[in-house]
Order: sequence, then C-alpha cells, then structure tokens
Amino acid sequence: MAALDDQRDVIIAIDFGTTYSGFGYVFVKASQDRIYVFQKWGRGQGISYSKTPTALLLNEEGEFLKFGHAAVEMYRKQAMSQTDCKKLMYFEKFKLLLHSEQDLNERTEVEASNRKKWPAMDVFVKCLEYLKKTATNAINERHLRSAKDNPNAEPKYKPEQIQWIITIPAIWRISAKEFMRKAAYKAGIASPADPDQLILALEPEAASYYCRKLPFEMFKGEYGKEVVKDTLDEEGIPYMVVDNGGGTLDITVHEVNAVDGHILEKHCPAGGLYGGIHVDEEFEKMMGQAFGEDVINNFIKQFPSDWQTLMNRFEVQKRAEEEVDNDEISIPLPLNFINTCNHYIGKDEAINERIRVFYSREVSVSSDYLNITMNTLGDLHRPIVTKIADRIQSLLSEDSLQDVKTMFFVGGFSEAQFLRREISRRFPDKRILIPHDPQLAIIHGAVEFAREPSLLRARVMGKTYGVGTCCTFDPRIHPKEKKLVRPWKEYCCDIFETLVKKGERIDLEETRAHSFLPIDPDCTEISFRFYSTNQDDAQFVTDREVVSENVTVLIPSPDTTKGLNRRLRLEVKFGGTEIKVQVTDVESGNVRKASLQLVATSVLHSRFH
Ligand SMILES: Nc1ncnc2c1ncn2[C@@H]1O[C@H](COP(=O)(O)OP(=O)(O)OP(=O)(O)O)[C@@H](O)[C@H]1O
Ligand SMILES: [Mg+2]
Repeated sequence: MAALDDQRDVIIAIDFGTTYSGFGYVFVKASQDRIYVFQKWGRGQGISYSKTPTALLLNEEGEFLKFGHAAVEMYRKQAMSQTDCKKLMYFEKFKLLLHSEQDLNERTEVEASNRKKWPAMDVFVKCLEYLKKTATNAINERHLRSAKDNPNAEPKYKPEQIQWIITIPAIWRISAKEFMRKAAYKAGIASPADPDQLILALEPEAASYYCRKLPFEMFKGEYGKEVVKDTLDEEGIPYMVVDNGGGTLDITVHEVNAVDGHILEKHCPAGGLYGGIHVDEEFEKMMGQAFGEDVINNFIKQFPSDWQTLMNRFEVQKRAEEEVDNDEISIPLPLNFINTCNHYIGKDEAINERIRVFYSREVSVSSDYLNITMNTLGDLHRPIVTKIADRIQSLLSEDSLQDVKTMFFVGGFSEAQFLRREISRRFPDKRILIPHDPQLAIIHGAVEFAREPSLLRARVMGKTYGVGTCCTFDPRIHPKEKKLVRPWKEYCCDIFETLVKKGERIDLEETRAHSFLPIDPDCTEISFRFYSTNQDDAQFVTDREVVSENVTVLIPSPDTTKGLNRRLRLEVKFGGTEIKVQVTDVESGNVRKASLQLVATSVLHSRFH
C-alpha cells in the first residue's frame, strides 16, 4: 500500500457504520498532530454526539432530505401527517446488504421503511456526499480558526490535499469493498484517476492501531500509564481484536515481528452478522409475543415512523446499566401505540392480561410506559451474546491461536453490560481490554492507519481465490461439456485458475502473476471474473464449493494487430485491504491499469497457454 502522498495535508477517516457513522481527522503537517473526532452530530436537535445514526431520508422523487439525527427527527415528526410519512423513503441498517447480497451489483436495490425499493448505490452515495460535505466543512472551519493570525493561509483545503479513509468490515467480500469504493467515487471522494486518495481500512485493524498505542489506564477497569504496545511487543505472542458493531462481529488476530516491529496478521478475519441490532430484533419478537403479532404488524403498517420512535426509545433504554435500585427499564409508548392497543385489545388491564399470556411479570404496561425487567433485557441480549462468545471460543481453540492472551473489545456493542459479563465469564484467563470509548476506536485508528498503512505487513487469506479462464482442450482430462470450439482452436472453458490459497500469509507487496492470451483475435477488452472457494483448490468455476466474487478485472486491449498472440501479464496483490490488479503488455512492456468491476452477468474472453 502506498505511503501517504506528499501533497496531502489532512487525513479524514469516515466510519460508515451499520447503525452509527462519524468521522475524524488530523492535520498532517501541523506541529501538534492531534486527532479530532467530529462531536457536533445532533446539534440541530439540541444534542451533541460523536456519531450519528446511519439513517437517510429521501422524498418521493428520491431527492435528499436529511441524514443522521436530522433524518430520524424529521421522519418522526412526519408521524403527525401520515400520508406524507408513507411517501417519504427512510433507510437504515442498509450497510448489512453489502455483506448479505450474493449478487451485489450497481443495480442492487434496498427497501425503504415504506417498502419502496430504491437503488442501494444511490443510498450509499447520498450518505457519503453528506458525510463528505460535513467533514470538509469541519476541517476548513478548524483550519480557518487556527490560521486566523496568518494572512498568507489559504482559506480552504483543495480537494487533492485531502486523504480519505473509509472503514469497512474485514470480513467483507471483494464485491462489497468494490461497491463502497464505487459509491465513494460517485460521491466525489477520490476518483478512478487517483484511487490512492481513498484507502479502505479494515475496521478491526484500525482499532488495533488505536488500542496498541493507549496506556492501560484508558481501558475500562485498568490502571497504569504503561503503553499497551510495549507489553504486547515484549510478550511477543498474538493478540485478538474483536469489533462488536451494530451489524457485524469482525475479529482479527495480530502478532508483532520481533525483528522489525511490523504487525503480521496471524489469522484471517473471522466473524459474521452478529451485531448489536440482534437485540433490537429480539425486542421486536418480544413485542409480537406480548401484544400479539397482528396488533404489532398493524401498528407498523399504519404508523411506521411511530414504530421507529419506539425502537429509538428502546435503543436509549437498553443501555441502562444494572444499578442498586433499578430492576427494570421503562420505555415511553407513543400515543398511536396506546390507541392501537386500546382499539384491538382494550384498556390497560386488558392489555396487561394479554401480555401475561406470555410474560407473567417480566413485561407490563403502566401509565403509557412499557416496563421490562433487567432479567428480560438480559434475555434479549442472550442469543447474540452467546453466539459472539461461541465464535470467539471456537477461534481460540484453533492450534495457531493457543498463545493468545490479550483480547481488545471495540465497537459500540462492547459497551453492552450483558456482553461484557459473558466475555469475562467465558474467558477468565484472558486479559480483556475495552477502551473507555469503544465506539470511537475505529475512527481514531483509521486516521492512524492512513499515516502508516505498511506497519501491517502481511495478511492471511480467508479463502482460496482464483479467476475463471480457458485453456487448450485436452480430451483426456477435460469433460466434453466444457469444450468451447473456435475455428482456430478448441478450448476448455470455466477453468478455476488459482491465484492464492486459503491460509497463505501474503506480504503487502507480494504479487501473484499470470500470463494470458485472448481467445478471440478481435476483442478489444479482456476480462476475468474472480471466484473463491473455502476448499484448498478447485478445478472448475462451476464446482459446487466455488462462488463468484461478483467482480471482474477489465483489461483494455485496443490494439488487435497481433490477434490471438497478444500476451498480457496479470499481476494481483492480495496483501492489502483490497485486491489491486495491474496488467502488462508483455511484448511492448506497456503497463496498463486494470480496473475491478462489479458484474451481474458472466463474461469470459481469455485463455491461459
Ligand atoms: N450499552 C449498550 N448496550 C447494548 N447495546 C449497545 C450499547 N451501546 C451501544 N450498543 C449497540 O452497539 C451498536 C453500535 O455500535 P457501533 O457504533 O460500533 O456499530 P456500527 O459501527 O454502526 O456497526 P458496524 O461496525 O457493525 O457496521 C448498536 O447496535 C447499539 O445498539
Ligand atoms: Mg463499526
């Protein structure tokens, strides 16, 4: 990964989370290199936070209305006029789509809360445009304040002076990373002509950069000014970083090279869709059981923004810590919810009777409040907390991770008392370090990552990657259904050409190279589709265990004079946070940039040998 370009004066890191987003920045050439995290989210609503809900509100025509707290607030207010509310498109938790959608491409759609479908790309672009605008305003404002005594200072940073970082889950597939990069370009963050202006940083890696540099006293329940890094370097054994976000559990394991101090990945990223929002899903299930599925479904359909308000209130209340005299949480119920219950069930006593069908005393309604005991709140956390702890335990049982002694817990969900308790109970012999601000570890770390991306020297492949290609047909080894007949030759198509194997540790600068030729003399563009498998190898891209990564490398080859004899060399770097490809015209030595494209249909125009 390239070192920071000399012309960049400021680094801005955007943490685009499933539930919350924010950004931080640093002035690279300032005498004091302090990292700032933007703290003014929600000011318009009379609050101030360092992250804002990843929520977007568009009008009926798909035009931008609001982002973040302001979107939540405006959507809530629309509850008053129900018709408008149903027309507006409110989006949240849409980042999950990039992980779950197998056939991700630029036409992929996402559903708004009024069930209307809208292109996911546009939703991401609009959010990023807003974040970009807010971030550039913030750096220019601070810059102006600090330069007020300097008459020669430029009033604003030029776009090319900014180095952008966007953080993404380490477990994302190639297509999800590519989708994010495309969205950033469309939002005016870097461009295909200058791709290095945007770094996609992996969330748990960024957190690792941050946590290592902190003194012990910056972690919950720890004391001492000694910096964690010194202890880790001295111990010389791997440590684990667990990012518990709203949508994703993202785990990485690092070790430090004793000779040069570089960080090496010890295990490929692990995790899954095990985030804090599962607690909200359990709450929704609980509501269905308590009040009846029909009542809840009718309410959601009729008053979608009131339902949103109720969920937001639960979001605040679920954070209550168990103290001496609080044995339940109380959530104010929206008026329309009470009216709906009155209509379908009856008055308070009838409602409580309905609730008692499922919950004897754990859930109740009184004076327009929904009361839930702390034990029941713990029950809502249990399924996801257990899954997270199980996943960590199964990783820790692997032979290569027997030495892990330290575990960093970052991400907002690491605040959850029920998670913290379960982790301490399940891993009593580990050193568990949770920073005081776990939800900000990723923003801080991403800024640090941008300054020193090559400190992390090598990464471990989670899968075997290859490209789909053709070779000369050999009837002794190739099945006849794979035969592709051309007037000049017979090919075997669908070959899985392995580039890297699962479990291999790849250095940042290591390239995997392959030479190839076109199979059609007149084609002016050659493309390879990327595939992966959890097996060590595969023969054909159609093998059962092989999945398409939904991206192709697209190589321009406008000069067709040499027809079938245009030898090109494909070089792929796997050790970075993204796959980087480059193509060399072997005959002329010309180097061409190849680009990765999201695909929806398969294309095959190449052959080896
Ligand atoms: N005290 C708490 N108790 C329970 N859940 C909490 C608490 N504090 C935060 N959370 C949950 O943590 C999640 C937010 O964490 P974070 O901001 O790290 O996620 P994100 O960055 O939006 O998601 P991701 O990284 O998965 O894309 C939310 O689901 C929120 O409800
Ligand atoms: Mg996050």
